[in-house]
Amino acid sequence: MKIFLDTANVEEIRQGIEWGLVDGVTTNPSLMEKEKVNNFPAVVKSILAVTKGPVSIEVVATDYAGMIEQAHKIRALGDNAVVKIPMTLDGLRAIKTLSSEGIPVNCTLIFSPIQALFAAKAGARYVSPFVGRLDDIAEDGMFLIEQIKTIFTNYSIDTEILVASVRNPMHVVRAAIIGADIATIPFDVLKKLPMHPKTDEGLSRFLSDWKKIFPDGKFPL
Ligand code: G3P
Repeated sequence: MKIFLDTANVEEIRQGIEWGLVDGVTTNPSLMEKEKVNNFPAVVKSILAVTKGPVSIEVVATDYAGMIEQAHKIRALGDNAVVKIPMTLDGLRAIKTLSSEGIPVNCTLIFSPIQALFAAKAGARYVSPFVGRLDDIAEDGMFLIEQIKTIFTNYSIDTEILVASVRNPMHVVRAAIIGADIATIPFDVLKKLPMHPKTDEGLSRFLSDWKKIFPDGKFPL
């Protein structure tokens, strides 16, 4: 499963890349607001430059013509720019046009299996089901991922399932077990994923045993 960072913070992306954990990045207007972005083109260009993989940038137009215009401007910023389009009827039309032009689209705000199927049929490269927001209203976000996975497998659909609105490590574990293609993860969740108390305990025991042989803690090679 590929790991994307769900952030508009360039330093977080750099750090994740150093850990070897970033296959791509997703952003949205709320993440831009969180970073208090005012020079939008400069921030987007920096994110595109530091990230080798795809970077999703969202349109804010809601009508077909506006989405197409903004999509072309986003795509002009770099070959790894993916246009994020919301799941609406105008959005579906825009996805169809953009995909026929060879522009990769990530269809966002997916909350039902049929929305995912329709986005895929329109030509979306990625669908972004929001699991945390379904959990917020006492629905099972990860069950949606299972449903989409089944449908895409049934019809050999190659649109990638990009699990979004990830809030905790278990979302990521379940996404991998289901076989989602990608999980896009906030930085704080990404940092928690490799942690295990038994790893910390084991390391501490190894180091204290080593000091029993070599009290200065040095490695004598
Ligand atoms: O990838 C979508 C994500 O940024 C939304 O997350 O936590 O606002 O539901 P959240």
